[in-house]
Amino acid sequence: MQVSAPAKVILFGEHAVVYGKPAIAVPVSSLRVTASIEERSSGGLEVFAPDLKQRFYFPRQDNNAEENAIEVAVRLTLERLQAKLPQAVIRLDSSIPIASGLGSGAAISTALVRALGSAAGRVLDPQTTNEIVYEVEKMHHGTPSGIDNTVIVYEQAVFFVRSQPIEPIKIGLPFSVLIADTGQGALTKVAVGDVRRLYEAEPERIQPVLERIGALVLEARKMIERGAIHALGQLMNENHLLLQQLTVSSPELDRLVKAALDGGAAGAKLSGGGRGGNMIALVTPDSAAQVRASLLKAGAVRVFETQVK
Ligand code: PMV
Repeated sequence: MQVSAPAKVILFGEHAVVYGKPAIAVPVSSLRVTASIEERSSGGLEVFAPDLKQRFYFPRQDNNAEENAIEVAVRLTLERLQAKLPQAVIRLDSSIPIASGLGSGAAISTALVRALGSAAGRVLDPQTTNEIVYEVEKMHHGTPSGIDNTVIVYEQAVFFVRSQPIEPIKIGLPFSVLIADTGQGALTKVAVGDVRRLYEAEPERIQPVLERIGALVLEARKMIERGAIHALGQLMNENHLLLQQLTVSSPELDRLVKAALDGGAAGAKLSGGGRGGNMIALVTPDSAAQVRASLLKAGAVRVFETQVK
């Protein structure tokens, strides 16, 4: 028996979303975490994550040791299910690069929560799954907005505002986005903390930047619903400039953004926490190959294409 969860990418509004502004994110269904469940008659639960080179056994041997994300996910899920520990081996295989803003942590948690539900003979509803994964995300991010877990659990394009019900977005015309990795790992938690310090030190300069990002996201939603790709590209470019003002870009991200535009992308920006990780470029069937080549030439270590539909 197998269950799975996708990667995600933020199209607009990262960082400002932490301050209550809207953001738009989409699932990347071609990159996934798959959980394979093998039931057995004894031996407790084993969770095996070959990509992380980690194995966990339950019941835990040392209850005094601090729990890691996998252990928290198992505990919270069994509590919510009011289920006994299943006798099973759950294997987690991931094709999502880790620590690069594609939501690998939230996807691992989501696949694991679903696998435990399945091992207990139950289907957890998306809202409960989302709540559990959000709790686990707090371990990675400190004060996450909740956008990662939401887009991954629901696996649909979302217009997200912190603490509000999610709004699916209607895609007027499918479009393609290239996701290019700078190869530089960066901790979202650090970037989010730095933006917080900047905001507290200079609120009169930073508040308008956050407001403008919020306004731009509303505009982007309209353009996505209308299928106005060119206008959407312009909004991406502006969003990148505003993220630079929040100090979350980096020379590598700026270089890839420039390379994408030079290669003919309709727009480009960093995506996610920034300071490294990924950037995105809006492409058409005509420009995709040229933009990809330009990104690789400028030093991207990996380029994925995803269709937003
Ligand atoms: O680095 P990622 O892709 O997990 O994105 C984090 C998005 C932020 O807005 C920077 C933080 C958050 O919790 O929303």
